[in-house]
Amino acid sequence: MSLLELRGVHASYSDGGQVLHGVDLTVQEGGVTALLGANGAGKTSTLRAVSGMLRRGGSLRFDGREITSLRTDEIARLGIAHVPQGRGTLTGLSALDNLRVGSARRRDRREVERDLERCLNLFPRLRQRLGSTAGNLSGGEQQMLAIARALMSRPRLLLLDEPSLGLAPKITVEVFEAIAGLRAEWSLAIVIVEQNADLALGMAQQAVVLESGRVAIAGTAAALAGNDDVRQAYLGG
Ligand SMILES: Nc1ncnc2c1ncn2[C@@H]1O[C@H](COP(=O)(O)OP(=O)(O)O)[C@@H](O)[C@H]1O
Ligand SMILES: [Mg+2]
Repeated sequence: MSLLELRGVHASYSDGGQVLHGVDLTVQEGGVTALLGANGAGKTSTLRAVSGMLRRGGSLRFDGREITSLRTDEIARLGIAHVPQGRGTLTGLSALDNLRVGSARRRDRREVERDLERCLNLFPRLRQRLGSTAGNLSGGEQQMLAIARALMSRPRLLLLDEPSLGLAPKITVEVFEAIAGLRAEWSLAIVIVEQNADLALGMAQQAVVLESGRVAIAGTAAALAGNDDVRQAYLGG
């Protein structure tokens, strides 16, 4: 069964017009769906629609349950964690406190400590930086921290909005290797928005290309990666 299913989703910002016009998107249990498209296509808005951050309609189902009218906190509690574009760490808190915020709702303290250890194994750089204020971490470390904080809530679905944005190529590789690793270890489903389409398609099974708030192309990641027309029109050759 698919874990997340969007059918005909439309959405608008309270201060603006409609930005999504009937988006369909599916994420399989434990699978990765890449969400691609030019700047302004509606990728971030799609993730925000899923996590309840903007006014939306149509059908959004998570684990078979309609979530279209749920609030952000209710959606988070169902196991959807959103790592926003621009990372969204709590810059005034230490890295460790950011991770504690991630697990704040959990009561399984022993498992939380185990997950903390797993996060630090996944992102060894963070181990040395636990006491540092998040705002003082490098861009790459902040991205790792944002992902680790999301993991600390033990989500079933991770929404990643441009994790490589602004990172040096070497750090991007490190972050993507960790994402690939966490998928295997945490049996998570992921929606990944990424400008680097090859990176995203390399780890995804399904892919959706948005254009002006609509689905332009959808299919398997392999089909999209191998289609020359798709590459030229949407993926920069
Ligand atoms: N906070 C906002 N208020 C009003 N309109 C917005 C807001 N954020 C984005 N938009 C508009 O929504 C559309 C889609 O933007 P976005 O989802 O951020 O695209 P992408 O992530 O693909 O670059 C754009 O036309 C953008 O101008
Ligand atoms: Mg965006």
